[in-house]
Formats: sequence, structure tokens, C-alpha cells
Amino acid sequence: MSHAEDQSSTRRDFLYYATGGVGAVVTGAAVWPLVNQMNPSADVQAASTMRVDVSGVQEGTQLTVLFLGKPVFIRRRTQDEITEARAVALDDLVDSDSRNPNISGGADASDENRSLALPDGTNTGEWLVMIGVCTHLGCVPIGDGAGEFNGWFCPCHGSHYDNAGRIRKGPAPENLHIPNASFVDDTTILLG
Ligand code: FES
Repeated sequence: MSHAEDQSSTRRDFLYYATGGVGAVVTGAAVWPLVNQMNPSADVQAASTMRVDVSGVQEGTQLTVLFLGKPVFIRRRTQDEITEARAVALDDLVDSDSRNPNISGGADASDENRSLALPDGTNTGEWLVMIGVCTHLGCVPIGDGAGEFNGWFCPCHGSHYDNAGRIRKGPAPENLHIPNASFVDDTTILLG
């Protein structure tokens, strides 16, 4: 990565703010210790909502924020990514549940049920918001088209997620979970 790209990436990564005054940025792949998930500190627990400014997130890139002690991936997908994700047959999925608390329980894991609706209620598939914790043993998957399904790859034990964050291969049992999330205006996503 060039110096200029590095600086651009750094600026992009900081395009967020936390209503509770708590936030941090996670970049790259990292082992996410289970102890951190199980024992979030008091100040992290207190920040039960977070507003994230996504105006600077370019198509084909991803912003990662720390929310309630876990990384949250906010990806602005390209049309090619959306088309690929929406072409997947539900029968090909390991986990048929959307894992999305923002829609009615038991909804299937179609791409439409995993991507985030725009402020006007339409869902073009442009935005995908997920908790960045592998559903196997809790590592943080690598993104930006990684793995055999052009999505996310968890190097800990080889779990491949597609570009809708659905588990397609490897030991992870469930799709990447989706947090409570919604657009509150054209450029702001509310988590929690
Ligand atoms: S923790 Fe991700 S594959 Fe095991």
C-alpha cells in the first residue's frame, strides 16, 4: 500500500463517531480473544448505541468500527458483489437463517434479508452491516473479497463467508450475525 493510500485509508477509518463517547477502530485480521466478548468493560457496555457517518465510505470498501466490544463491518458493496450475492440459491447455503434481528424472526438468508435498507425503505443491497466475529470460535475474519466466495475468510480454522457474510465452507456453523442497525438519515447508520 502506498503512503497516500495509507493516509486515505486512515482518514476513512475514522469517519465515525460514538454517541456514548466510546469507540475504536479495528483494522486487518486479528484474533479476537473470547474473553473480550464475554467480559466487555463497563464503559463499552454503557455505549449501547453508536451513530456512524458513512458518507466517506467508497463503493467496494469497508469501514470497521468497534461496537459493544465487537468489530462491526460496514461494507458498501459494488453492483457486481450485489449481483453475485443475490444469484446464490438458498439451497447452497449452510445456514438458512438470515441472522438479522432487524427483520422478522425466521427469515431466510437471502441477500435481500441480510443487506440494510436505505432511509426510504428500499433495499438495493448497497450496504451490508455485520458483526465481524467468526461464528466458529470468535476470530475476526479478513474482508475485501477474501476467501473462496469473494467475501470474508477466517484464517483461524478456514471458514469462508460469501459477500453477503453467509458461511459457505469451513467449520463455522452460522452466517455472520447482523447487529441492530438502521439508517437515520442519508449518511448515518445507527447501531444498537
Ligand atoms: S474461529 Fe473462524 S474458523 Fe475457527
